[in-house]
Amino acid sequence: MSNIKYFETNKATWNEKVNIHAKSEMYDLDAFKNGKSSLMSYEQKALGDVKGKSLLHLQCHFGQDTLSWSRLGAKCVGVDLSDAGINLAKELNDELKQDASFICCNVLDTLEHVKDQFDIVFTSYGVIGWLPDLKPWGKMIAEKLNSGGVFYMVEFHPIVWMFDYLDGKPVMKYGYMQDQAIYEEYEGTYADQDSKMISKEYGWNHGLSEVVNALTEAGLHIEYLNEHNESPYDVLPNLVKTESGMFVTKDQLYPLIFEIKATKP
Ligand SMILES: C[S@@+](CC[C@H](N)C(=O)[O-])C[C@H]1O[C@@H](n2cnc3c(N)ncnc32)[C@H](O)[C@@H]1O
Repeated sequence: MSNIKYFETNKATWNEKVNIHAKSEMYDLDAFKNGKSSLMSYEQKALGDVKGKSLLHLQCHFGQDTLSWSRLGAKCVGVDLSDAGINLAKELNDELKQDASFICCNVLDTLEHVKDQFDIVFTSYGVIGWLPDLKPWGKMIAEKLNSGGVFYMVEFHPIVWMFDYLDGKPVMKYGYMQDQAIYEEYEGTYADQDSKMISKEYGWNHGLSEVVNALTEAGLHIEYLNEHNESPYDVLPNLVKTESGMFVTKDQLYPLIFEIKATKP
């Protein structure tokens, strides 16, 4: 099957998820509209004061994180494959009187749709697994950054994607770095397990070396790569809440999250 077919299937699924996620407890749209930030501690700590900076948010879903950065004073552009997501993001931008812009496109086609360069390129939690090959992604990020600009990503760790979670108990089934697409079809979504929606999606597993090499080969300088046991999201089965309100596996044998900060020389 061609990548175009994979992306079409994923787009249809993400379009359907938007409405469900917008009503979900996890995304808590009412609290967001009332001023609550959707940003988590990792990304806030990594990017610090964004006031007056230009920020490109890749795979922005329906824009909560983009608009959270806008509220902190960044001049933001959000990109996502899902037109339902982008439409809702635009509505929220108007309702909340922010100045972000949103563009519907495949993240791999960003260069055709977004002409500016940015001080910050940002992407987070559940993003690279939708991309078959990270090399063009890394090149696009490098091109979209101003000289001296910062790329920051925080993402679920590749070990997490080695498991099949569909039967409740994690079963190790997929390669840490496997080229073939992984197809999954299941009821519900990570933000609403009770939803009757059938998610049909293709994903790809990328090891840490693939992520790092995609960025360094594109000319970026990695400042740090960190791995963390604690996830801010309770989206995998059997996680345990810590005192700080984060989530870990019971035995903490492997990390759930990694983050990379890189700069363009
Ligand atoms: C898990 S969400 C991103 C999470 C985000 N931090 C959030 O919760 O708001 C993944 C997003 O990637 C988008 N996406 C998937 N494949 C894409 C692609 N090829 N190009 C652009 N966006 C894509 C989906 O539409 C979805 O909005």
